[in-house]
Amino acid sequence: MSSFGFTVHARDGAARTGAITTPRGEIRTPAFMPVGTAGTVKAMYPEQVKALGADIVLGNTYHLMLRPGAERVARLGGLHRMMRWDGPILTDSGGFQVMSLAGLRKLSETGVVFQSHIDGSRHEMTPERSIEIQTLLGADIQMQLDECVRLPAPREEVEKAMRLSLRWAERCRTAFGSQPGRALFGIVQGGTDEALRVESAKDLVSLDLGGYAVGGLAVGEPQADMLRMIETVEPHLPTAKPRYLMGVGTPDDIAQAVRRGIDMFDCVMPTRAGRHGMAYTRHGRVNLKNARFAEDIRPLDEASSCAASRDYSRAYLHHLVRSGEILGMMLLTWSNLAYYQDLMAGLRAAIRDGRLEDHLAEIREGWARGEA
Ligand code: GUN
Repeated sequence: MSSFGFTVHARDGAARTGAITTPRGEIRTPAFMPVGTAGTVKAMYPEQVKALGADIVLGNTYHLMLRPGAERVARLGGLHRMMRWDGPILTDSGGFQVMSLAGLRKLSETGVVFQSHIDGSRHEMTPERSIEIQTLLGADIQMQLDECVRLPAPREEVEKAMRLSLRWAERCRTAFGSQPGRALFGIVQGGTDEALRVESAKDLVSLDLGGYAVGGLAVGEPQADMLRMIETVEPHLPTAKPRYLMGVGTPDDIAQAVRRGIDMFDCVMPTRAGRHGMAYTRHGRVNLKNARFAEDIRPLDEASSCAASRDYSRAYLHHLVRSGEILGMMLLTWSNLAYYQDLMAGLRAAIRDGRLEDHLAEIREGWARGEA
């Protein structure tokens, strides 16, 4: 079995392009991971996700433990087999989702006891259980359990969560043990406090994990704060390990973070927005609910390689969205993920060719020109 690894092929400033290798295939970086929360990238066939150029998808411990249950997924042959995705899968640890979705929660040193948002049943998530679940699911990249505080928050609260997350990282590492071909990533916390971020990064790096995520961002702070935190943390992360910015973001957030050395991203934005009538294109964001598209026969992007973006009129998409038709959600999700994957492919090529700054100027010009 091939092992888990990461190779940087080229650099341009702080940006890098390379590949994460896993026994299930290679992940070209910088990579965007479509979110497949409950064992499905909503409104997409797995074959379609693959065809768009996604090398890896994300799954959620929190959702899958509640339904259909981690042990059941394992009996069904694991998450890859169940959802018919044979490429790598990264699972989030559940900490973030417990905090944002679950009912009554009680956090302690041990872990977090919470009520399911589905049926109110009581569950306990500890670092050990999170890793056990992610291992039962068969995740190739597993995330440590962490506590992410919503910003703005008092420094003491951010510091307490950051230190708890560090102790949980150690427990996760012990629970993870040695799983050939798989990796455990740590998550840097510390809000928008530079000293806390540096401490979190240094302590995690001393645990020698498979990769490092930057968490606790895009939780209500301005983009400038998020970018400053990436710049703060980046010099303390090993160059030979992948870096993952969790839950980010808009195409511009991603471009700016790639420029600062981030290798991996995930976000519900392209899929969720697609189910709400919103399209991301080379010319910016397009709200297809808008009446001005009612008789607009142009496609979203005549030059796209994705049929959803290229072959369907805005008028038809507008009609589907206004009518609440399933096909509207399918086409816009497809088109948005195509745009995100094309964005990543463009960034990778630009880094490889040493022309990232020029490329960023070009894509920004496209967004500024607008949808018309
Ligand atoms: N997704 C987005 N942000 C975070 C975070 O800080 N922690 C975890 N576990 N998942 C996230």
